Amino acid sequence: MKTLILATLPILLVSSICAQQASNIFEGIDDPQILPLLKSVYGKPGRWNVPPQDGRFLHNLVLAKGYKRGLEIGTSNGYSGLWLGLAFRKNGGQLITLEIDSQRAKEARENFLKAGLSHVIDLRVNDAFKEIPRLDGSFDFVFIDAWKPDYKKFLDLVYPRVKLGGAITAHNVISLAAEMSDFLEAIKTHPKLESTIHKTSTEGISVSFKKE
Ligand SMILES: C[S@@+](CC[C@H](N)C(=O)[O-])C[C@H]1O[C@@H](n2cnc3c(N)ncnc32)[C@H](O)[C@@H]1O
Repeated sequence: MKTLILATLPILLVSSICAQQASNIFEGIDDPQILPLLKSVYGKPGRWNVPPQDGRFLHNLVLAKGYKRGLEIGTSNGYSGLWLGLAFRKNGGQLITLEIDSQRAKEARENFLKAGLSHVIDLRVNDAFKEIPRLDGSFDFVFIDAWKPDYKKFLDLVYPRVKLGGAITAHNVISLAAEMSDFLEAIKTHPKLESTIHKTSTEGISVSFKKE
């Protein structure tokens, strides 16, 4: 799978400022409400959470770029949302996260409450294809982590809503590349997106910056 991706994207597998060694994923995160959740919420069956190192990568990206308004598509029980919510709180920003499944959304809401992030994270229980057109304004950060064959449709839907310099990120771009070949081709060839693939875990995260 890695070879396939390397053949189709001009990639760079990077260790950038956003990457974090597996041994120090939680380094510098000392909030006593959030840290235990970042360590315990991950991994429940049927929740499909990003691995902790991928959550840390997204957190570091949001912080490094000073992003203030984020959109997550696919909350599940809120694991990536905890990492992102923490970063947006540090930046004085806000995250809107969308989940279609009411049980997973309920768990996410409880996790955000326990983390003290309810004022930063606006969780909406709805089909993202219906909810996104109802959202006001633009975003400087988007994280796509819903069903993989939908990624290209989500890219088309959010692209006009992302500010110049903003980032559209997506999960499983290595592990489930075969389910999203149209998305990967689009981020590779789009004239106004500068895309890289990051092997922060075996699952892979794409980062596409919107340029002039
Ligand atoms: C891979 S999981 C998300 C994991 C989450 N980002 C985390 O790391 O904890 C995908 C989630 O996307 C949700 N989903 C799929 N299609 C959706 C849609 N059209 N609108 C909203 N949520 C959707 C699923 O119900 C599922 O909970």
